[in-house]
Formats: sequence, C-alpha cells, structure tokens
Amino acid sequence: MSAAGPNALYGAPSPQALYDEAYENYRAYLNPPLARVMKLSGSPVEVRASGTTIWDHAGKAYLDFAGGYGVFTLGHSHPRVVAAVREQLERMSLSGKTMFDPLVGRLAKRLAEITPGDLAISFFANSGTEAVEGALKLARAATGRTKVVATQNAFHGKTLGALSVSGRDAYKAPFAPLLADVVHLPYGDSAVLASALADAAAFVVEPVQGEGGIVVPPLGYLSAARAACDASGALLIADEVQTGLGRCGMLFGCERDGIVPDVLTLAKGLSGGVVPIGAYVARRTVWEAAYGRAPLLHTSTFGGNPLACAAALAALDVLRDDDLVRSVHARGRRLLQGAHRIAAAYPEVVREARGLGLLVGVELRSEGYAGTIVPEMLKSGVTAAWTLNMQRMIRLEPPLIVTDAEIDTALAALRAAVEVARERLGDLNGANVTEHSRAST
Ligand SMILES: Cc1ncc(COP(=O)(O)O)c(C=O)c1O
Repeated sequence: MSAAGPNALYGAPSPQALYDEAYENYRAYLNPPLARVMKLSGSPVEVRASGTTIWDHAGKAYLDFAGGYGVFTLGHSHPRVVAAVREQLERMSLSGKTMFDPLVGRLAKRLAEITPGDLAISFFANSGTEAVEGALKLARAATGRTKVVATQNAFHGKTLGALSVSGRDAYKAPFAPLLADVVHLPYGDSAVLASALADAAAFVVEPVQGEGGIVVPPLGYLSAARAACDASGALLIADEVQTGLGRCGMLFGCERDGIVPDVLTLAKGLSGGVVPIGAYVARRTVWEAAYGRAPLLHTSTFGGNPLACAAALAALDVLRDDDLVRSVHARGRRLLQGAHRIAAAYPEVVREARGLGLLVGVELRSEGYAGTIVPEMLKSGVTAAWTLNMQRMIRLEPPLIVTDAEIDTALAALRAAVEVARERLGDLNGANVTEHSRAST
C-alpha cells in the first residue's frame, strides 16, 4: 500500500495505470503541449496532500515549495479549514442567492476589520483575475475616467481586463486589441508616477511583483504612488493576490510602506487553500460612487459562496490564532540567506537571489538552467516553479507553516539541482562568470 492510502488511486488498478490515464487525458483533452512538457519534466500525479507535503501516485512525498503559487499559506488541507468546509457542505453548499447568507456578510466584516485603514466594502469572486477585473471596473465607474496605469512586467491575471494591465507581451499579443488607454510604467520608479497618473482612473500595482520575477520595490514606492494618486484623483489598487495574508512577513504587503490603498485585491491564500475565492475590498466612498445607486452592475453567481466563505473565515482564524505571520520574517531570512549562499557558490548558473518574507526567488542566468533545476528538485522530492513572466526565475513559496528543517532540505535540493545544471549544461552564457566574480571580490 502506498503512503497515499488504499483509496488514493481513484479506482485505477495500479499507480502506473493512474499515471498513464492522467497523462493521456491531459494530452488528449486538456492541453497537449503542456502535457508533454510536464511529462518531460518528470511531473507525477498528485493524490494526497497535508501540511507542507504532497504525495504522488507511487507514494513518494514532496515538500511543496511551489505552494500552489502562493495558495497554500496554511499548508494543504488544514484540519480547521477542512472541518469548517465539511460542516458547511452538509448544511448548504451554494447560496440560493435570494436570501441573506450569514457567512458572506461575516467574511466581509472580517476583511473590513483586518485590511488597512478604512477599507470597508467587499466584492467576492472565485479567482485572482476576477478580483482584479472587479477592481478595474470599480475604478472606472467610481471616477468616470478610463485610463489605467500599471507596471511593466506585472501579472494581474488572464481575463481580458486583468491581462490588459499585465506586462508580458507574449501572453497578450494573440488577444489584441485589449483594453484601450492602459499605460505601463517601470516598476519601482517613483519619479514617473505623477505625470502618468494625471486623469487616470487607477494605478494598479503589486506590493512585490510575484510573477514578474519576485521584484521588491524600493521602500517608499507605494507611498509615492499613494501621494501621486491623491494628487491626481486616481484610485490606488494594491493587487495583493500573491503578497496578501502574511506571505511577505506582514498581513498585507502595502503595510511595508504603511499606506492604505483605495482598493485591495485578494485571492490565493484567502480561503486557506481549500476552496477557490477571490475578493476586493474597497473604501466605502469609492464603492458608493460606483455602485451606490446601481447594486447589480457587477455581480457573480458563485462569488462569495458559503463553502468559500466558511473556508476563508476558518483560514483567517488559523492565521490569527496560530500567529503564523510572526515567524515569516525569520523563516524567509533563512531561506533567502541559503539561496544567497547558493548564488555565491554557483555564479555561472545563478544571477542573484532576492525576495521578501516567504516569497523568494532565485534568478538564473538563463532559462535553460530552469529546465534542469525544477525537474531535478522534483526528483529529490521538492516542488518549485518558475514565475510566469520570468521563466529563468525559480520561485520558492512554501506554506507559512514551513519549518527550519524543511527549508534546509529544500535548499539542499536546490543546491544539488544547480550543481547538476552546471555539470550538464556548462556555462550557457558563454562568459566565464566564475573568473569574473572572483576578480571582482
Ligand atoms: C498579483 C496577482 N494578481 C492576480 C493573479 C491572478 O490570479 P488567478 O490565477 O487566481 O486568476 C495572480 C496570479 O498569480 C497574481 O499573482
């Protein structure tokens, strides 16, 4: 019997049969090229997960440092969240929509209490991109303006509005024309904000760029954005889908600069990794200006459903009761320092390591290395992933409950994988970086 238990094979006669079936279905019915890439990378079939660990079809355990790209802040299947969802599932799983639902109201109140300043009114959806979509519509309706300012290499999602404010051309070109009147500014550059924001509806910005390659802006960048928005009347939308709820060592990334945005978006970790959810929380005056007389302008059938709300309320309880955010700085420092040591030891392969809290990235000198390092880490039993807009960046984004020992295990896997990449691929840059860096130290 595998570590995954007797029922974990979903009716397949053997682990290999389950793998073959899953691969074949992906290849034939889901996404043929992606299926092939996953197969080449050695991706197994996931069958069970708990805490920081995922088990595959053959019973092998993996430390999850990809972390669902930030979903699993509490780890997988947190028992308090699962229990809350199970109870709600038996009571009433989806809303009938014509009556008040107590949980969605309770969750909205809770978000008003924990988000910065006077953020007060929530809208719920089912994903991050829907949260951003809602925020963009809110900004246009509230200000009566159309222009939206965003940042280069940002990632806000893949629906048309969120894609329009995202920064990677390769994801956008096949769908052009996207939203008109969108301007992209260099991320982290305060000097360009004031002029660009004149007559804009909004400035949408990640407190740390996640998919753009784990880019931490200079301190003061969000304060400058706040001041520029105040001067121009543009709304400041902080996209905290990835940075929110403790990931960066504070409950919300915008606390780093002590600012209050006009709209804050959330998703990923909000429901403890158990039921999908997305949300924005807006200032009351902003929401009133947009929807005060038109409450049905922006709605969602499944958004804020009772299962997701039960999960989110329980997840927020766990975050508070277990004081999870407090340990993030220390754990993140351990992870980042270890990544720095690997960068220093293998300068031919690693350009630099950077991050904030438990959002850490290792930037390689070439995408080619990532194609070896991620699968090699997987072989050693650690998941990692590249970032969507920068595929030479290996992200390490474990659950906030990760232990020091698990961090050391992941770092050892990373070091071994980098070593394999160097041996196998040599110096992909054509320059002898080792000699160069020796000369410069
Ligand atoms: C900052 C940010 N915003 C929005 C999104 C989109 O979220 P989703 O994939 O749930 O639509 C992401 C996803 O990675 C994100 O990192």
